[in-house]
Amino acid sequence: MSTVTFFTPVQEEMQQVEELMRTQADEHHPELRAALHHLLGAGGKRIRPTLGLLVGNMLGADPRKLITLAAAVELLHTATLVHDDLIDGALLRRGNPTLNARWSPATTVLTGDFIFARAAKLAAETNCLPLMRLFAETLAIIVSGELTQLFTSHGIASRENYDQRIFAKTASLFEMSARAAAMISPVDEATVAAMQDFGYQLGMAFQIVDDILDFNGEQAEVGKPVGSDLLQGLITLPTLHYIEDYPDDPDVQALLEGNTDANRDMRLRLVQSIRKSDAISRSLNEAEKYVAEALRALADMPAGTERQALEDLTRYIVDRRV
Ligand code: IPE
Ligand code: IPE
Ligand code: MG
Ligand code: MG
Repeated sequence: MSTVTFFTPVQEEMQQVEELMRTQADEHHPELRAALHHLLGAGGKRIRPTLGLLVGNMLGADPRKLITLAAAVELLHTATLVHDDLIDGALLRRGNPTLNARWSPATTVLTGDFIFARAAKLAAETNCLPLMRLFAETLAIIVSGELTQLFTSHGIASRENYDQRIFAKTASLFEMSARAAAMISPVDEATVAAMQDFGYQLGMAFQIVDDILDFNGEQAEVGKPVGSDLLQGLITLPTLHYIEDYPDDPDVQALLEGNTDANRDMRLRLVQSIRKSDAISRSLNEAEKYVAEALRALADMPAGTERQALEDLTRYIVDRRV
């Protein structure tokens, strides 16, 4: 399917990105090296570095800087997942046991920190001060978004809250990847802004689809347990639509009242109701709107292999099963 087509133009560079990431724990503790190899070896779609590489190549970025940037972005992503899985108590990621499934919280936290540090070092190696600032700001957005989620009582059913959350946890990094690639390219400010917008739209669509897959995905394909958002009390877009459409459903009322303990059965029932309802297709329509905006942001970019691949990547975001 389309995956193959959009990865192809950056295949060789991606191998260099992989190599650069894998060597980041060389000359450090063997357990750390093993952990990094375990994480990177488990796969992952590599969407964010692919996005950066394609944007940079389309706009004429220096290839060496671009590879360094792509590795920095994916390592930043990897580090956030290491900490996120510990925080969420998740035992499975990319079809593999998480670090916290095997290790103590202490070693998991420190390994995440180490990967953050190496990501920051790589970002610095682009020799682009605004890029380093962007890197730090993006990490702050992701972390403060996660904190807000923890501090906010569960079961908040507000669209504004949802939009902020998915920007912080996902769209901010997509935005950074595309914007930073443009920043190290010989282009004007308007182009940098257009690529920032492209990354943002793509990231918003990506997270909405991720939230849909949490309802209708296959665990074997997604590589992490599904249905878990609502079971954990996390209200995402399909649930918001369902609440809007069926305010009188007793399960909805129980959910909104937020009695958190005795309601696992209620949540399981709700997951089933939502799966069967058109809350799913309504959510997908919203992802499609972001996709349309993303394609608009691309329209003025130089035509060619890379722009075509970025268009394919954009389509893949909503067509994917994982
Ligand atoms: C997972 O991101 C975390 C989210 C922000 C949804 P991906 O779905 O890109 O995860 P990998 O890298 O492919 O495993
Ligand atoms: C994604 O958060 C991780 C971050 C970007 C911090 P989630 O907890 O919502 O995503 P999954 O389901 O574990 O991938
Ligand atoms: Mg998680
Ligand atoms: Mg989480």
